[in-house]
This record gives sequence, structure tokens and C-alpha cells, in this order.
Amino acid sequence: MGVLILNSLGGMGAGLKKLPSLSDRLKAVASLVCGQVVVDVGCDHAYLSIFLAMNGCRRVYATDVRNKPLSRAKINVAKYNLLDRIKLILTDGLCDVPRDVDDVIISGMGGKLIERIILKQDWLKDKDKNLILQPQSFLTQLRENLCLNGYEIENEVPVVEFNKTYCVVNARYCGQPRRLSLEESVVGKLAESDNAYSVEFLRRQYKKYSKILKGLYISNSNEEKIEKYERVCKILSKWK
Ligand SMILES: C[S@@+](CC[C@H](N)C(=O)[O-])C[C@H]1O[C@@H](n2cnc3c(N)ncnc32)[C@H](O)[C@@H]1O
Repeated sequence: MGVLILNSLGGMGAGLKKLPSLSDRLKAVASLVCGQVVVDVGCDHAYLSIFLAMNGCRRVYATDVRNKPLSRAKINVAKYNLLDRIKLILTDGLCDVPRDVDDVIISGMGGKLIERIILKQDWLKDKDKNLILQPQSFLTQLRENLCLNGYEIENEVPVVEFNKTYCVVNARYCGQPRRLSLEESVVGKLAESDNAYSVEFLRRQYKKYSKILKGLYISNSNEEKIEKYERVCKILSKWK
């Protein structure tokens, strides 16, 4: 069962408490949840965890590696009377997280950290675990390494918010490691959609990589690197 975004109570959930307002980025993350038991890794303030618990999730494990955000999360969770359904766990990534989860959310962190957290846990090699990942960096590398390790990217949701763009990656284990082509790793699933946000996301990626390439020319970087970025820019130039 999926999570309802802004339920029929018009923003009022269980106990008629006002739902924490979520950014469009976190709403996109929430929209990809499909089960009833969820882990929210790096929960910070726990607004997403609270939102999910108030919108159909039976149990949420909200984890953070730092004490300070987790204490703040606990205060927020208590405010919504959800301490019985949101279990707060102080841990690194998915260590110490019960394995009965349907959905694994890791959002708002660097792509390399997300990759490390996932690849450390063999129990995620299970087609019933739905991964919802929102990297702040290294998106291309995350796509490549997920697929090289037998995960499949099923869907990607672009978000444009406050002049920033994000991409939420929805993946699960399929057991067939695959090396992505450069084009697949650079545009992911976004090229399959003509959604205005996908187009805008890819347009900005073109701008970003063109700027990097310019810097490489100026600094006389090595030929191989320049050639790779030229190929990336050529792929993305469809959206310039
Ligand atoms: C920028 S916040 C993102 C919060 C929220 N997930 C979001 O998307 O808005 C990153 C949070 O991840 C936590 N964090 C960083 N590394 C972590 C790790 N290895 N395991 C769990 N949490 C981590 C930080 O303490 C911080 O609270």
C-alpha cells in the first residue's frame, strides 16, 4: 500500500494534529513508499518519519548517526504522540536496523555515503526491499555502482525546488549486475520522460558539466578526463 500525499483530512492526520509540512523534495521521497514498515536513515528532525507514520505506515525506524538530531527527532515524534510507532535508533546507516522493513529511505546525503550504507548490507539483496534514495551529490556514480552490484533502477523522480534540483532514485535488487553505458549513468531514467522537471534537471546537468569541462580545459587537465567530460556534455547537449 502506498503513502497518501496530503490525506483527505486536508493536512490533518491521526489525532487531528497538523502534519509537519514537507518540502517538495521530501514529498517526492514519500510518494515512492509502497509498504507499511519503513526505515528513514539520517532522519534529522524526523518530519518525514512523522509524515509517513501519519499517512499509512504502521512502523517507522528513524535513524541518525548523531545524538543531537536524534534528540530533536525524539521531541518532534513525542509531540505527535508517535513514540509507539516511530522507533528512534542511534546508528551508522542501517546497522542495528531490524530487517522487516519494506522501504529503505536514505535522503539528503552524499551519493558516496548512500552507496556505502547500501552495499554494506547484504540483507538488502532482496527484491522485496524498495530503496528510495535522494543523493545530494555523485548521482551518476550511485547509479553506476548500484547497477554493478545487482540493483536495478526502476524509476527516478526529479524535483525542482527553491532554484535547486534533486533526483530521487527508486531501486531494488534484481540479482543481475550490469555495467551502465555512459549515457545511462548520466541521464538515468530521466530521459524516458518529457516531464518538465526532468527536462529542467537535465538542462542544469548540462550547464554543470559544461562548467566543469571549461575548468578542465583551463587547468590543462589530462586528456582522458577531458575526453570523458566531452562525451558527457555531448550526451547532455540534447537538453541544453
Ligand atoms: C542533511 S540531513 C538530511 C535529513 C533528511 N533525511 C532529509 O532528506 O531532509 C542528513 C542527516 O543524515 C545524518 N547522517 C549522516 N551520516 C549518517 C550515517 N552514516 N548514518 C545515519 N545518519 C547519518 C546526519 O546526522 C543528518 O541528520
